[in-house]
Amino acid sequence: MFVFKRLLLSSLLLTLTLSAQERVGKYQLADKISKNAYSTWDITIFPDGKNLPTGKGSYTEGKVLYNNLCMACHGENGKGGVQLDPYRNPIDTLVKSKGDSLRAQKPKKNIGTYWQYAPLLFDYIRRAMPYQAPKSLTDDEVYALTAYLLAENKIIPKTLVLNKSNLAHVKMPNVDGFICDNRVDALGTPCMSNCPVPSDKGYTQPVKSDQEDHLKSDCLIPPKLKF
Ligand code: HEC
Repeated sequence: MFVFKRLLLSSLLLTLTLSAQERVGKYQLADKISKNAYSTWDITIFPDGKNLPTGKGSYTEGKVLYNNLCMACHGENGKGGVQLDPYRNPIDTLVKSKGDSLRAQKPKKNIGTYWQYAPLLFDYIRRAMPYQAPKSLTDDEVYALTAYLLAENKIIPKTLVLNKSNLAHVKMPNVDGFICDNRVDALGTPCMSNCPVPSDKGYTQPVKSDQEDHLKSDCLIPPKLKF
């Protein structure tokens, strides 16, 4: 009996040590995630089109999908917008109407006036829409919806079939309208006392080349792209 108990204990210890080897960090609390399991979350697409998947989609395919899956909330031709509750304004339209501008008394933010890089539209639709069923669209469907929305905004011709090689080269009207938020706090340098305030020298910092990694910096460095 005694021997049996010892055997049981040592095999238990062995199992614990073995599984601990797969655990990460100082506290050994989490299991290392496999590349395969992580891949479903690793879907970020960068402004220069990095990580865009293979596939393609046209305006005509996009129009059918839009009318079936998106119009209920975003209105006919992307020119409406649901009101989520009575205390909030309806969401912005997706498609620009004549006269919509960011400079107006009531600025209108939509794909035509506001969005900076076309690949980010693909990223957003793929990860977040339709609102009630995010990540349910195929890559071809997302290309098609992107084509539809860009063409309705008169940014690309209705005949352009979008894919991973041409989407990043679509020049968005507001591509130069953003400034880098490179205040000290935005760069993650903690300041606990005598911190600079907006009028102070040193409040903003130039972007250094080692911050060109978008994951490490809050600044969106313009991708080196020919439109
Ligand atoms: C059930 C309602 C609903 C449906 C259906 C829906 N959306 Fe949305 N959509 C929203 C809401 C709400 C937002 C705003 C979300 C937010 O700001 O967090 C939004 C935001 C967006 C935006 C970002 C707009 C911007 O300028 O910030 C895009 C692009 C978009 N939707 C595309 C689509 C597409 C394409 C479809 C169809 C595949 C779709 N949506 C279906 C409710 C919906």
